[in-house]
Amino acid sequence: MVKSVCLSPSLLSADFADLRSAVQKIEESRCKFIHFDVMDGHFVPQISYGQPVLKSVRAITGAALDVHLMVEKPELMVDSFIDAGADFITFHLESTVHSNRLIQMIHDRGKKAGISIVPSTPVSALSEVLADVDLVLVMTVNPGFGGQKLIPSCVEKIRLLDELRKKNGYKYLVSVDGGINNSTVSSVVDAGADVVVSGSAFFSGEFKWDY
Ligand code: DX5
Ligand code: ZN
Repeated sequence: MVKSVCLSPSLLSADFADLRSAVQKIEESRCKFIHFDVMDGHFVPQISYGQPVLKSVRAITGAALDVHLMVEKPELMVDSFIDAGADFITFHLESTVHSNRLIQMIHDRGKKAGISIVPSTPVSALSEVLADVDLVLVMTVNPGFGGQKLIPSCVEKIRLLDELRKKNGYKYLVSVDGGINNSTVSSVVDAGADVVVSGSAFFSGEFKWDY
């Protein structure tokens, strides 16, 4: 069986004055996911967009909205992002003490729970949540900005997460985010990624996706 790999374009690199066209471009590329990067100016230096923008995007697409919370205290925002239309809520292990409770909160609302790690966090730090999450997002850049270069040493984490799910029967998707372009995409797909996030390469129009 050929494994299917999905592209999840990140709206962070879209023209914010024309999000409707950006969503159309994503739909024309037959992507099943849209990646929605939320930045709070604390966990990462910049502020991007939030619940009202997600609600407007929800109104014009049936794609799965994959919300990546790069925020402190994500527990304060989970309900409002779900109310605004999120299908997946992915938060950072580094952003909260109570990951287990947060996963439960997301599941109690009937949504998929994802967890993400920054480049300096090892996969071993996720050991107590891997059985419970629906998605693990491996950051291959330090979060906060689009258009950075992929850190090659992070790719090994994808391979490790793929091995761990096979060995233990875990059900999570492995997603990867940061610096994916024509030169780096094969390395993350070969390592076992299921969902590949792309911002600047996708919206530049130069990205060739043939998975
Ligand atoms: C970075 C964000 C990414 C970003 C990826 O902090 O989480 O989703 O949009 O952008 P590229 O693909 O340009 O690295
Ligand atoms: Zn992201």
